[in-house]
Amino acid sequence: MQEYIVAAEEAARVGGAILQEWAEKFTAREKSPANLVTEADLASEAAIGEYLLSRFPDHGMLGEESLCREGNGSDFRWIIDPLDGTGNYVHRFPYYAVSIGLEKAGQLVAGAIYDPNRDEMFAAALGEGATLNGERIAVSEATLVGESMCMASLPIKADRNHHAVRKFLNALEAVQSVQRSGSAALNLCAVACGRIDAFWSNSLMPWDMAAGVLIVTEAGGTVSRTGGETFSVDVPDLLASNGTQLHQDLVKVLSRD
Ligand code: IPD
Ligand code: CA
Ligand code: CA
Repeated sequence: MQEYIVAAEEAARVGGAILQEWAEKFTAREKSPANLVTEADLASEAAIGEYLLSRFPDHGMLGEESLCREGNGSDFRWIIDPLDGTGNYVHRFPYYAVSIGLEKAGQLVAGAIYDPNRDEMFAAALGEGATLNGERIAVSEATLVGESMCMASLPIKADRNHHAVRKFLNALEAVQSVQRSGSAALNLCAVACGRIDAFWSNSLMPWDMAAGVLIVTEAGGTVSRTGGETFSVDVPDLLASNGTQLHQDLVKVLSRD
């Protein structure tokens, strides 16, 4: 697995360098209302795809922007977000990352998330633990909802009656603090290294979550759907936490109507 971890980290660094190169010169456009993309997203994805393809020509690939490639007799698939936090990037809020996950026969086996602003590389391999810049990381020990620091993602342009907004309001009354940051990948890393206690969203895509959920579970945390059901990278419903009693208690809070 070491070979794949090294490749995921290198691919994430390749993408991160491109994001920083474009940071002073990009232009942004809307893919759909308020859903932004820049030259940096596209250039990062192209370079990551090229790098991974040169190392693993038979592997499948799924990237957010345009990368979609069937494996050639291989059951490996790379799941790539070349810039997670495009809205932050466009507004020069330095909270964005590159996320590279690897599945084997549908199971997440390796992942790396690189934050080029803090030069932080989060990585994990199945059964081998999670690291931040090479040092082992672990989730927090918080157990009480009322003392927990959480993050949530809300869908773009969600109106006040959206179920995700209702969950957010339920949580606001119950937790110590609930934030919205603009990068699901970095939020998952924050859960993994104990900077926050939980993160949830009902609007994520596979590339937002793939690497991050492995990093959380390998750091000792738990992932499920917000109703407590088994997590799937193909279903846009995620609750990631430190895996203490807090997890089940947050399921109850998020399930209130
Ligand atoms: C977005 C971020 C954000 C989440 C959105 C994602 P992008 O990814 O992860 O935190 O709330 O659902 O789409 O578009 O910046 O790659
Ligand atoms: Ca994303
Ligand atoms: Ca993206």
